[in-house]
Amino acid sequence: DKGNHRHFMEKEIYEQPEVISHALGHYVNFIDNRVLPVSEVIDFAEVPSLAISACGTAYLAGLVGKYWFERYARLPVEIDVASEFRYREIPLTPQSAALFISQSGETADTLASLRYCKEHGLKIGAVVNTRESTIARESDAVFPIFAGPEIGVASTKAFTCQLAVLAALAIAAGKARGTISDAEEQAMVRSLAEMPRLMGQVLNSIQPKIEFLSRELSKCRDVLYLGRGTSFPLAMEGALKLKEISYIHAEGYAAGELKHGPIALIDENMPVIVIAPHDRFFDKTVSNMQEVAARGGRIILITDEKGAAASTLDTMHTLVLPSVDEIVAPMIFSLPVQLLAYHTAVHMGTDVDQPRNLAKSVTVE
Ligand code: F6R
Repeated sequence: DKGNHRHFMEKEIYEQPEVISHALGHYVNFIDNRVLPVSEVIDFAEVPSLAISACGTAYLAGLVGKYWFERYARLPVEIDVASEFRYREIPLTPQSAALFISQSGETADTLASLRYCKEHGLKIGAVVNTRESTIARESDAVFPIFAGPEIGVASTKAFTCQLAVLAALAIAAGKARGTISDAEEQAMVRSLAEMPRLMGQVLNSIQPKIEFLSRELSKCRDVLYLGRGTSFPLAMEGALKLKEISYIHAEGYAAGELKHGPIALIDENMPVIVIAPHDRFFDKTVSNMQEVAARGGRIILITDEKGAAASTLDTMHTLVLPSVDEIVAPMIFSLPVQLLAYHTAVHMGTDVDQPRNLAKSVTVE
């Protein structure tokens, strides 16, 4: 049932504040702002490293997770798309743990990577939506994302719920490893607690701007997405979402890679969507944008209040989101990214919930 939404994808985008809040409730205690003990099977204090593998959007959630585990828990993360991971003959130590991220819990390559790690003696964790799935069944520890059924083929609420669970796990790992203090833990959990309300606020306020921008995007053949830090995987997620449902060619790049190739493509016909909260990387990303502007590129800047105040750039459009803690930004910034793809596809009249050539669950390699 789509309720009063035109598509399941739209319904699932708007459900995010509610499902994320529900998911977080299983991983954090909002009364004292602490993470709950995560798993008796995977001892984050002891593991020397973590391997993460997944496909598509789930892989991009894992990539954000890598930044978090490394920064907050000082835990080295090896990550790859499952179709490469399973064949790379990665040297793995049995003391390590591995995390597999999957909405369906049935993705063939992800399952094969899981079995590969299991054979090498690693402890297996699964971040899944479908708890009665093969991946969940074959794992030592299951971390459900509680997103509820996701019908739209393009993943939206599963992505942000995966992020929320990974954020909680990274904080828990940081606590276990003594790399974040009680005060840091509490500050981050408090920010996570406020997030669903902010998500609702963003969803209610950006619609008109998104519709305007989507009309512009629907006229384009190519779109470039840029970001640094955790905004880099988000740039790739934005590009993936746009191409999946609108069939517009899009690429996501690390902002710093611009001058190493893609800058050759910049002209007034290819909009550049820059995802840049006012974080440690903001000034660097702005200087990359200056290079785009100097070549006549049209910039759509997605930033926060602090970023909008600090930027002097001439953009085609600037979307301003609330300023939030760094650990919350990827979830908040997912919203405009998803809505841009959604409204562009609606504008172009494609089959949003059932895009051509795609299946919700990919059980062949
Ligand atoms: C993107 C999308 C796919 C899936 C990928 C993995 O919108 O839906 O990229 O994320 O096929 O699927 P799961 O998470 O079921 O393993």
